Amino acid sequence: MDKQSPCQVIGIASGKGGVGKTTVSVNLAVALQAMGKKVMLFDADMSLANAQIALGCRSPYNMSHCLSGEKTLAEVVVTTRQGVQLVPGASGLQEMAALSEVQIGRIVQEFSSLDAQFDYLIVDMAAGISPMVMTLLSACSRRFVVVRDDPSSIADAYGTIKVMMQDHHLDEIYLIPNAVASEPEGRGLYERINQVCARFLGHSVKYLGSIENDELILLALKKFQSVSEYAPGSAGSRDFRRLADLTDNLPRLDQASGGVQFFVERLVQAPA
Ligand SMILES: Nc1ncnc2c1ncn2[C@@H]1O[C@H](COP(=O)(O)OP(=O)(O)O)[C@@H](O)[C@H]1O
Ligand SMILES: [Mg+2]
Repeated sequence: MDKQSPCQVIGIASGKGGVGKTTVSVNLAVALQAMGKKVMLFDADMSLANAQIALGCRSPYNMSHCLSGEKTLAEVVVTTRQGVQLVPGASGLQEMAALSEVQIGRIVQEFSSLDAQFDYLIVDMAAGISPMVMTLLSACSRRFVVVRDDPSSIADAYGTIKVMMQDHHLDEIYLIPNAVASEPEGRGLYERINQVCARFLGHSVKYLGSIENDELILLALKKFQSVSEYAPGSAGSRDFRRLADLTDNLPRLDQASGGVQFFVERLVQAPA
């Protein structure tokens, strides 16, 4: 394992809900883990189809127990069947703004010790572009924007990209067209969105890879499984394997633009 570079922290956003953020977060995490990478998944959304459901696990604790000092980070984290380590996050996140210096020091230290243990930290965002979502996205080293080929998803993806670029000066933004009919159609959707970004925002977004519309992805979720467990031979499983490969082939980002320490420092030091 190449641990020359820090843990790569990837935020999964979309703007709109129901587009496939959790699906991509969970299945990408499982596919990277299956490649032999060490993956941690941070659930920053607690809406219905959340990461715990999708991975078929349940945690009695979440980040708020860790922030309050009742539990250590290690006690809050659950190991899923697939070997992915899951941090149930959301309900504690707002409390980060109220932490004392001592608490901040402890949290930063607990998270930073993860850097050596993990290759990837994947952050599943809530819908929308709330300050919390933008703080999380800014703290990540890379951002993947999930988009479907429908007008409201495209508008919301563009809106999210615009805020990331113009208000937060973020780069390393990649599109993942989801639930598309084919890879060429996904690439076409990327090209349409990128043209608008280049023209009106003056910056390009990058293309990562597409995920086909596959009913087995939906059925897998209903069985609390990743698609690779539920239907290893499916198009969805193939696409997530490819997505994991593409992700792992991206240039490694160094400590200055990433890593777990950078991530958690940005989170706990964000203005309330
Ligand atoms: N590529 C796909 N093909 C078929 N169904 C999908 C696909 N991606 C997501 N879904 C389904 O769409 C629904 C919403 O996905 P989800 O990941 O929960 O969205 P979000 O996290 O953005 O709210 C889920 O029922 C999921 O199974
Ligand atoms: Mg979700």
